[in-house]
Amino acid sequence: MGKDVIIACDFPSKEATLEFLDKFTGKKPYVKIGMELFYSEGLDIVREIKARGHKIFLDLKLHDIPNTVEKAMAALSRLDVDMCNVHAAGTKAMMEAAVRGLTREDGTRPLLIAVTQLTSTSQERMQEDLLINEDLDKVVIKYAQNAMESGLDGVVCSPLEAGKIHENCSPEFLTITPGVRFADAAKDDQVRVTTPEGAKELGSDYIVVGRPITKAEDPVAAYERCCKEFIG
Ligand code: C5P
Repeated sequence: MGKDVIIACDFPSKEATLEFLDKFTGKKPYVKIGMELFYSEGLDIVREIKARGHKIFLDLKLHDIPNTVEKAMAALSRLDVDMCNVHAAGTKAMMEAAVRGLTREDGTRPLLIAVTQLTSTSQERMQEDLLINEDLDKVVIKYAQNAMESGLDGVVCSPLEAGKIHENCSPEFLTITPGVRFADAAKDDQVRVTTPEGAKELGSDYIVVGRPITKAEDPVAAYERCCKEFIG
């Protein structure tokens, strides 16, 4: 599986997103569309970006009863996105239903990735709010294993967890990792960050990079720097 840099297009509108993508003349970076943009602009923005030739990670983090997730995934598979995701907390039955829903009649499907514990959930909140008393690390590994056993392709995780996931699942199980910053730049609100080169050394398969590219003075140069450091 080829390594790639996915740009998190966290923009509020279609206009702002397309204006940003227009800067990449001749290049077609892999794009992540999240909830803000999807719920603002709907299916049109996905179709438009796809028609422009970009690969799309549709980051909607589905989590519901298996039947509902299966039907929703069937709708997403018709959108022809390249990657989408669910919460592993929905259980193996929900993840298996997601795979079924996403698989097209010809047997093909977009990559399906699980969110384990959100990086915004601390050990303390997990124990007190969710009554999960195991170590956070152990929970992340267990959820990743559940995802693999349910037929998913990988998980979203910190680059710092990528090695452990590969070790406890399989080297082929994909790690999609946000929290990437250039060595000489601001961390913003990310806490545990790694450089693109560091993520490569730690074994990340895809890095998800937002503000270091979208807020850069020269986004195309920042994207190229990311690719150079991460892919080589
Ligand atoms: O701007 P920045 O590079 O921090 O963007 C990272 C992207 O990855 C954002 O879209 C953010 O929502 C997403 N993300 C994250 N941490 C996670 C899961 C997703 O930063 N654990």
